[in-house]
Amino acid sequence: MALLPKLRCIGSMLCAGGAAIIFLTLSASVLGVVGVCVPSERAALLAIKRGFSSDPDGRLASWGAGGGGIPDCCRWDGVVCDNATGHVTELRLHNARADDGSTGLDGEISPSLLDLPRLAYLDLSQNSIGGGGGDNLAASPLPRFLGSLSDLRYLNLSSTGLAGEIPPQLGNLSRLQYLDLSSNSGGLYSGDISWLVGLSSLEYLDMSVVNLNASVGWSGVVNKLPSLRVLALSNCGLTAPAPSPAPARANLTRLQKLDLSTNVINTSTVNSWFWDVPTLRYLDLSGNALSIPFPDALGNMTNLQVLNLQGNDMVGMIPATLQRLCSLQVVDLTVNSINGDMAEFMRRLPRCAFKNLQVLQLSAVNMSGHLPKWIGEMSELTILDLSVNKLAGEIPEGIGKLSNLTRLFLQNNFLNGSLSEEHFADLVSLEWIDLSLNSLIMEIKPSWKPPCKLVYAYFPDVQMGPLFPAWIKHQPSIKYLDISNAGIVDELPTWFWRSYSDAVYLNISVNQISGMLPPSLKFMRSALAIYLGSNNLTGSVPLLPEKLLVLDLSRNSLSGPFPQEFGAPELVELDVSSNKISGIVPTTLCQFPNLLHLDLSNNNLTGRLPKCRNISSDGLGLTTLILYRNNFSGEFPEFLKHCRSMTFLDLAQNMFSGILPEWIGRKLPSLTHLRLKSNRFSGSIPTQLTQLPDLQFLDLADNRISGSIPPSLANMTGMTQEHLPLVLNPLTGYGASGNDRIVDSLPMVTKGQDRSYTSGVIYMVSLDLSDNVLDGGIPEELSSLTGLVNLNLSMNHLTGTIPQKIGALQKLESLDLSINALSGGIPSSLSDLTSLSHLNLSYNNLSGRIPSGNQLQALANPAYIYIGNAGLCGPPLSKNCSSENSRTSQLDLHELKGLSDAMSLYFGLALGFVVGLWMVFFCLLFVKTWRIAYFQAVEKAYDTVHVFVAVRWAKCREKKTATS
Ligand SMILES: *[C@@H]1O[C@H](CO)[C@@H](O)[C@H](O)[C@H]1NC(C)=O
Ligand SMILES: *[C@@H]1O[C@H](CO)[C@@H](O)[C@H](O)[C@H]1NC(C)=O
Ligand SMILES: *[C@@H]1O[C@H](CO)[C@@H](O)[C@H](O)[C@H]1NC(C)=O
Ligand SMILES: *[C@@H]1O[C@H](CO)[C@@H](O)[C@H](O)[C@H]1NC(C)=O
Repeated sequence: MALLPKLRCIGSMLCAGGAAIIFLTLSASVLGVVGVCVPSERAALLAIKRGFSSDPDGRLASWGAGGGGIPDCCRWDGVVCDNATGHVTELRLHNARADDGSTGLDGEISPSLLDLPRLAYLDLSQNSIGGGGGDNLAASPLPRFLGSLSDLRYLNLSSTGLAGEIPPQLGNLSRLQYLDLSSNSGGLYSGDISWLVGLSSLEYLDMSVVNLNASVGWSGVVNKLPSLRVLALSNCGLTAPAPSPAPARANLTRLQKLDLSTNVINTSTVNSWFWDVPTLRYLDLSGNALSIPFPDALGNMTNLQVLNLQGNDMVGMIPATLQRLCSLQVVDLTVNSINGDMAEFMRRLPRCAFKNLQVLQLSAVNMSGHLPKWIGEMSELTILDLSVNKLAGEIPEGIGKLSNLTRLFLQNNFLNGSLSEEHFADLVSLEWIDLSLNSLIMEIKPSWKPPCKLVYAYFPDVQMGPLFPAWIKHQPSIKYLDISNAGIVDELPTWFWRSYSDAVYLNISVNQISGMLPPSLKFMRSALAIYLGSNNLTGSVPLLPEKLLVLDLSRNSLSGPFPQEFGAPELVELDVSSNKISGIVPTTLCQFPNLLHLDLSNNNLTGRLPKCRNISSDGLGLTTLILYRNNFSGEFPEFLKHCRSMTFLDLAQNMFSGILPEWIGRKLPSLTHLRLKSNRFSGSIPTQLTQLPDLQFLDLADNRISGSIPPSLANMTGMTQEHLPLVLNPLTGYGASGNDRIVDSLPMVTKGQDRSYTSGVIYMVSLDLSDNVLDGGIPEELSSLTGLVNLNLSMNHLTGTIPQKIGALQKLESLDLSINALSGGIPSSLSDLTSLSHLNLSYNNLSGRIPSGNQLQALANPAYIYIGNAGLCGPPLSKNCSSENSRTSQLDLHELKGLSDAMSLYFGLALGFVVGLWMVFFCLLFVKTWRIAYFQAVEKAYDTVHVFVAVRWAKCREKKTATS
């Protein structure tokens, strides 16, 4: 094994190697050398064949066929006989076409197997004999009688869909050397694996995905299998071996490969046997819950080639004892807490292994310091992943010597400085590179031709401008290109579309790239996601590539109407916001069955929205529809009736008219945000609207809505809760709910400020009914909407008093009841609103003493808040309450007016302060949610694009979340 080939072979080599040793001893019979078939065994084989209900690939077609006389079953496909005795010794029925989707043999394992007394080798892997994989078949159990096949040495039932408890009778197979029960979709379990002890000859055991959740003694049991070379118990629900009296040292003196990945082993002791098996070559404990220091005993595993501890919480630097681990080829410690210095880490890696090391993955381990200059000495390195750490300084030029390097991931660090041709000089093998989220500058001559053929080129935030990087012209192999936010101020070169016609993912957004879009992008046959947003592109919305899922053309200068046919039937997201697109929305819009997110806001679109009559049951699953700031007219769009999944609906700043249909409350049950501001809606607020349980943002401002505020609004439970930014799962990078959708820069009025609200609007709880013709009182029930941050009822005809319990709205930051006809006193509970930073009660008929205390005292521009209420008295007004509460004299009004004029300067300053505070808040939200939005936009594409991409992004996001 000294000449182990490249890394990808290591795992299989070990298994295959182990297996090969076994098989060589099993039977020297070679296919084609044939004994004389035993008649009873022929009958048994035919019975076995009958047990299989289907055989789509004709695997058993030869079974039963004979060349005229009695068929020789030893010639049958997959049957191997002993060439001396004619006994069937092997059934090799592995389904080799499983990867192409073939289900293989279907049906049951016939007990006639017992009539093959010399059967030593049975491979039924990847066939659907258990039925568990099928749709209509109940999974069948692993037959007990297999335990009676006493000659069996090799048994492979992996991926067969078997389910149920593993019969302990299997433990009778004392000659069994190889047992693979893995990947039966979690349907197999064994509560007590002590039967394994009977398998005293076992050399290879793979029970991955068998549920051993209840097997507390598993560790002690496997330790009684001294011949084991390979032990794989991945994803078995194993917990710490601690409860069993596990010996500190293993009896497993031959073990070469140990895979205990994806369990819940959280042993707190470093003495567990699996840390100290000197023969081990392959150790995979990834995806467990180990939160201990790296044990010193690791240093005894001098044969170790693969060390994978990814996804635990191992704490601290690797031990100083590793210097004898000269065979190390793969070190994957991704997502742990090394919390140390890169230079120290490198010092502790065995120097003798530098020339062997092929994979070094240290992403998200909280590593600081610099990349060592001599990194170029690791000449065999194929994967270097140091992403999501705190590495600082420049990237050493030595990295350019790594001629075997295929993947280089340095994103999400604090790296700075510039990258030159030297950094890429000998990177002839490089295919994947991600340098995003650092402060890097690429200073590369336009004439440079990279030595590599990149496939995945991720350079967002790497400064390459102002000229469009010419070298990417010579990289048509790139499938994923991201040069967003690269400081490019240039025209999009004509070769761009040609060179990248095979790209899957293109992102050149957030630059100042100009030029005309081609009228059709159909030639981009592989494209799934194209981001061209925030540039200076002109032209019109092009015809789209057939497979496209995501298109972002937002914030450009596109004009003209939409094409009649978009031509991307799979489209999931379309963002053309903030352009100058005119004309009507074609009915083809109705024909995107998968469309989730549509943003047409801030364009010059006119007319009615299409009626979309032929919507199939699964059509229009839209969750986000953003149409604000256009000239759409007509009634509240009917087709929305079919959009049951809608969460975010924004029709603001258009010319929609008519009543608000009551069906909004029934047909859009998931609605969280409804913005209808600045339209011409009339009629009353439908009570049904208040039955929307998740509605947290309702803006009906600046319409012609009349009637009274329904008391049932207390039923809007979405407004009774606080909505906090989602905590992202650091590994998946995605939030728990799908609600953190891209909603980019939405204008919203709060605290009297009309501003472009970034996607933090998702977390805003707001009720804005201002500037309508509502009358009647403010219902007391309002005070149960305790999640409200913004409440604006101003500019209506509301009468009655301010609800006494208004102080219950503890989250309220902005309250505007101005310009109504409210009367009575100001409830003293108002002073309980400790978060309040903007209050406006002006121009009502309020009277009596102004409450004092807490936040009220600190509000800016106090006089302005109460102006136009003749009956109010007490500070901050100069009018004294002790005197008879006479009607306010002209004098008072004059006084107030004067005051308000004098205050305008002060007011401006105070406003500035508030705005400043909010800016910080917005920025926080911006960083996070912008990221979320950004990444989520690609998320859907990823399933089809590449899992790896998602992982990369997730890591970026994790880092960003942590730093924001
Ligand atoms: C099978 O037959 C070949 C020659 O035909 C012989 O060399 C070999 O040893 C035989 N194997 C066994 C297991 O009998
Ligand atoms: C809609 O359905 C009607 C009849 O059901 C059909 O005649 C018409 O062609 C369909 N329209 C579209 C755009 O599919
Ligand atoms: C809230 O909804 C429930 C059930 O729909 C209803 O019975 C109740 O009257 C509503 N509350 C108010 C205040 O309308
Ligand atoms: C309340 O709404 C009115 C009209 O829509 C607006 O002018 C005002 O600025 C808003 N008040 C606050 C505090 O945002």
